[in-house]
Amino acid sequence: MANKKMGLKVVSSAVISFSLLLLSASTAKAQANGVFDVTKYGGKEDITEALNNAWKDACGSMNPSKVLIPSGTYSLRQVTLAGPCKAAIEVQVDGILKAPANPDQFSGGNWVDFRHVDQLTLSGSGTFDGQGNVAWSKSTCNKDKNCEGLPMNIRFDFITNGLVRDITTRDSKNFHVNVLGCKNLTFQHFTVTAPGESINTDGIHIGQSTGIYIIDSNIGTGDDCISVGDGTEELHVTGVTCGPGHGISVGSLGRYPNEKPVSGIFVKNCTISNTANGVRIKSWPDLYGGDASNMHFEDIVMNNVQNPVVVDQEYCPWNQCSLKAPSKVKISDVSFKNIRGTSATPVVVKLACSSGIPCEKVELADINLVYSGSEGPAKSQCSNVKPVISGIMSASGC
Ligand SMILES: *[C@@H]1O[C@H](CO)[C@@H](O)[C@H](O)[C@H]1NC(C)=O
Ligand SMILES: *[C@@H]1O[C@H](CO)[C@@H](O)[C@H](O)[C@H]1NC(C)=O
Repeated sequence: MANKKMGLKVVSSAVISFSLLLLSASTAKAQANGVFDVTKYGGKEDITEALNNAWKDACGSMNPSKVLIPSGTYSLRQVTLAGPCKAAIEVQVDGILKAPANPDQFSGGNWVDFRHVDQLTLSGSGTFDGQGNVAWSKSTCNKDKNCEGLPMNIRFDFITNGLVRDITTRDSKNFHVNVLGCKNLTFQHFTVTAPGESINTDGIHIGQSTGIYIIDSNIGTGDDCISVGDGTEELHVTGVTCGPGHGISVGSLGRYPNEKPVSGIFVKNCTISNTANGVRIKSWPDLYGGDASNMHFEDIVMNNVQNPVVVDQEYCPWNQCSLKAPSKVKISDVSFKNIRGTSATPVVVKLACSSGIPCEKVELADINLVYSGSEGPAKSQCSNVKPVISGIMSASGC
């Protein structure tokens, strides 16, 4: 009995040291100067296993490291790249990554999920291609409020001090990027591309996050270019071109209980073209309370936008709610300054605030929006708000 046990122990420790040896051999082979190249981990057509293993080694490295996906076209199944890591880590994607087209091959709401990483950089000239066509054709999200959770191309969960640059995301089955619980995360020269008619394919959705910067980026999609959910603070959007899509939106808010305040939203020097909305703040009527304040939209060019400037506190898509009671979300300290260009409809500014909690401290300055169709001239409409108006105002009514 005692002998057998001892024997087992000897065998298992031999196995452990043997596999440690293998591990260090493969690490040594795969790594050069802190670069962990997935093609050196056996990644050929499908790089899922190779990426998981390269990430594990890089994340465990005591020195700053890089996972490299060189140029080429690869399949990638659902992956979670989780920290915490031992040092700063970069994932450089130069290749084209293709998700499984069939949504049934995913469980949960993501394709690629980065989570709990400090000092993450995602860089490279590569593309995350969600191959969303099949999923969009089956989607019920345009009529069903409980539509099932299709995978988002990239999720950033609890990332701190991160940078995403140059990367492209294409044809996601659901939102392209979801930012949750992040602090100090920058998107720079980032590209989102999906057809204007693709369902629910928001470009970047942000919630429960502080210090998010979206700079010099190009977003064209079938839903909001950027959407801002509850608990977002200090969001800076500058030099973004948006379109096609539904514009840059704060909300919708007030649909769920216990939503956290939104505050410190700065959208500046953006160009919005051929979209359903330009800049918009929206909340559901009736339902739940909330607070959105300190939101500023400045130096924005609109090209043929249907509803360039919107506050909509009766947001109720597909009649999913009751309009009998006003929104309980409080909106205050909002400015729209130097907004110019063309509108596709005559109502270029529409501020429809809650009759229960009117909007406070709203400012319109230098609004030069032109409508040149037969229902002209350009108009503005305001309810339950008395905006302070200064400078140019091309649309009378408010
Ligand atoms: C934010 O993150 C970037 C990228 O990692 C870093 O360079 C910068 O120092 C961070 N800023 C703060 C205030 O921590
Ligand atoms: C405004 O954004 C554009 C990109 O759309 C950029 O090229 C330009 O430098 C920005 N201007 C300022 C003053 O930031």
